[in-house]
Amino acid sequence: MRMILVGPPGAGKGTQAAKLIDTYKIPHISTGDMLRAAKKAGTEMGKKAAAFMDAGNLVPDEVVIGLVIDRIAESDCKEGFMLDGFPRTRPQAEALDAELTKAGVKLDVVLFIEVPDELIVDRITGRRSDPETGAIYHLQFNPPPADVAGRVVQRKDDTKEACVARLQKYHSETAPIIPFYEEHGLIRRVDGNAAPDEVTARIKAALA
Ligand code: AP5
Repeated sequence: MRMILVGPPGAGKGTQAAKLIDTYKIPHISTGDMLRAAKKAGTEMGKKAAAFMDAGNLVPDEVVIGLVIDRIAESDCKEGFMLDGFPRTRPQAEALDAELTKAGVKLDVVLFIEVPDELIVDRITGRRSDPETGAIYHLQFNPPPADVAGRVVQRKDDTKEACVARLQKYHSETAPIIPFYEEHGLIRRVDGNAAPDEVTARIKAALA
């Protein structure tokens, strides 16, 4: 299956991807994770991306498109992939479309996780992750277990200010890709305003 997870920051894309990969057995490709890894490794691309990310801005299309096109050309993506956080602009959606057409394959579904703006800041500012396993927690909604709580970290862009900027970018740059995929009949909408396991059940029902 070739699928895209789309939704506002904090919609639960990463949380749901972690719950879905066992079922669908396809690689989870998160551009946010790839860019954070490049930043941590101090690569040229990571350095270039850092300032954009920390301020809640989008990394330029020319950086991100190449990264994803190279990744989906790898052998583990032959039977499918789950893209999380890409595409995020109309040029990214068009570049992906062109690349898949060139490869003679098609997207199966674009899963749109909908969460109202008023819930986003709490979700984002309370997020913590385990640097050892990558597991995502929330201080209130999904607290880390006692043996993990001491080592969880907060993302640099999970401040209220950066979150507001990310939400604005989402509405101006990313939301317009929804009609693009709607025209292609690929969108499945899922209400993400429920407990994580309930959202997973809704996603599986939408994909069935
Ligand atoms: P990225 O890492 O993709 O961030 P994002 O899209 O803003 O999404 P998040 O990771 O913040 O949220 P999520 O939907 O995965 O939610 P999560 O499951 O963690 O991108 C970061 C930056 O990289 C961008 O700002 C940009 O600079 C750059 N970038 C990345 N891709 C790019 C691209 N294609 N083009 C240009 N730039 C790009 O959940 C959030 C919190 O809520 C967690 O604490 C979780 O425990 C909690 N939670 C989850 N589900 C629920 C639920 N159902 N109920 C209650 N709490 C929940």
